[in-house]
Amino acid sequence: MENLLLTVLICSATIFLSIVLILYRNYLKFGSVCFIIGSSKNRRLSLPLGSLGWPFLGETIEFVSCAYSDCPESFVNKRRHRYGKVFKSHIFGSPTIVSTDAEVSKFVLQSDAKAFVPSYPKSLTELMGKSSILLINGSLQRRIHGLIGAFFKSSHLKAQITRDMKKYVQESMATWRDDLPIFIQDETKNIAFQVLVKALISLDPGEDMEFLKKQFQEFIAGLMSIPINIPGSRLYRSLQAKKKMVKLVQKIIQAKKESGISNVSKDVVDVLLNDTSDQLTDDLIADNMIDMMIPGEDSVPLLMTLAIKYLSDSPTALQQLTKENMEFKTIKEQLGEPLCWSDYLSLPFTQNVITETLRMGNIINGVMRKAMKDVEIKGYQIPKGWCVFTYFRSVHLDENNYDGAYDFNPWRWQGTDLQEKDISSCNFTPFGGGQRLCPGLDLARLEASIFLHHFITQFSWVADDDTIVNFPTVRMKRRMPIWVERKLNSTKETKV
Ligand code: HEM
Ligand SMILES: *[C@@H]1O[C@H](CO)[C@@H](O)[C@H](O)[C@H]1NC(C)=O
Ligand SMILES: *[C@@H]1O[C@H](CO)[C@@H](O)[C@H](O)[C@H]1NC(C)=O
Ligand SMILES: *[C@@H]1O[C@H](CO)[C@@H](O)[C@H](O)[C@H]1NC(C)=O
Repeated sequence: MENLLLTVLICSATIFLSIVLILYRNYLKFGSVCFIIGSSKNRRLSLPLGSLGWPFLGETIEFVSCAYSDCPESFVNKRRHRYGKVFKSHIFGSPTIVSTDAEVSKFVLQSDAKAFVPSYPKSLTELMGKSSILLINGSLQRRIHGLIGAFFKSSHLKAQITRDMKKYVQESMATWRDDLPIFIQDETKNIAFQVLVKALISLDPGEDMEFLKKQFQEFIAGLMSIPINIPGSRLYRSLQAKKKMVKLVQKIIQAKKESGISNVSKDVVDVLLNDTSDQLTDDLIADNMIDMMIPGEDSVPLLMTLAIKYLSDSPTALQQLTKENMEFKTIKEQLGEPLCWSDYLSLPFTQNVITETLRMGNIINGVMRKAMKDVEIKGYQIPKGWCVFTYFRSVHLDENNYDGAYDFNPWRWQGTDLQEKDISSCNFTPFGGGQRLCPGLDLARLEASIFLHHFITQFSWVADDDTIVNFPTVRMKRRMPIWVERKLNSTKETKV
């Protein structure tokens, strides 16, 4: 509790300082926007309703304290009720249009850099670097996105991910005992991080990997911190850690260049080095490799952890999931074939469990953009310079879109084409959409399917009490401790 309070305080201080020190200019701009609106009747009519809260702070404190509570969407839902699905506010230092309207959000996601560019808190931009794919816009972003996306879709890479996942999952599970709690969140982080680092820079477990893990912890601790870079500050230490990691990646890039670029791309570095334009410098590649490790430490392991959490509370779903995976395992064993990547993705109920976990978990609550010009969507005016926050969470938890929206109900997805769903649905956007649709979505599903398969076919478990924390990132308060018991038929005894 003290911890929480401290974090809230630090967060408030962060926000306050960032606004006062860094975003003062924004405030002045905002002042002039107000002036323009005041003098133009048309605009005033179509600007969404809402309150801008206090000077400087806006409604940030209320947003953050809701974000920490059991019901993070309460901030947005309260205003949505009062002002409508799209409303104005002032959070994280910028006047912001918050959209809980799936169509408006979709329009924002599909717009190009002439209308909207990414806009994130200062500490995050400093740490990610100017050339991070999450922050760049225009042709360079499209180029990198295309190269990465094609590589992640290749069956060659999916086969490699499957091999690595199986290996690391088995290694991890081999050490599990029934007399000690297993912290699912730690286990899945360790596995998913190693798998992704392998896919990015072909680094195997060992000394360098341990070094990377350690520095990476330092690095991500600063992503949401006070944006002051002086020796000793959080941001400073995180930047130092990033420098050390970049050096390691630069070494790997140099080694690859010296040995000549191979004719099959083994990892993302190979893919980006093979690009012939001069835009993709070594610095840009190294920076992006570090940034792209974040989903391996964060989103993917949380997807697995939340699935285990929801299944712990939903015995019927667990039973059906176990049945599906056990049956498939038996068939494959009889045929004497190992499971390949497409097998893992072929089990319909397993995919429905993952989809439902994505819907309820809201690992990414929404994305932030800044308007580059005045934009009008569905009659709402978004003034140039304002931020837009497309808040997916309240769409995913809206009774009008999903019956019993707060119940974990994988059966609701029966008969839907999930591939199609990930890409084109308005009401289901855990991976974003449009130009920046997450290129890692197939990998996330694949890794979660493999983890679930091996876990539920080998173990039964009892979960200790734990709760989901949603801010600044989604995680389990106690790292999801469970007590496991090995299933008898999971060892080779059945063959005797
Ligand atoms: C459950 C897991 C994941 C979730 C929920 C997730 C979610 C998202 C979302 C919502 C975006 C859109 C951001 C925006 O519009 O600004 C995004 C972008 C991105 N994701 Fe993921 N992601 C996941 C896993 C992964 C994985 C495994 C990778 C692999 C490296 C990855 C790499 C990326 C990249 C590179 C982008 C930026 C794309 C661009 O801006 O062009 N993600 N992700
Ligand atoms: C868009 O990207 C270009 C470089 O590709 C950069 O110079 C420019 O500042 C970016 N625009 C915004 C608004 O971030
Ligand atoms: C590419 O690599 C394969 C083996 O991995 C080799 O058989 C082939 O000759 C190589 N092609 C070129 C153009 O180097
Ligand atoms: C490198 O790029 C060229 C086209 O620019 C492509 O034909 C080739 O397959 C790529 N090589 C690898 C190893 O990806």
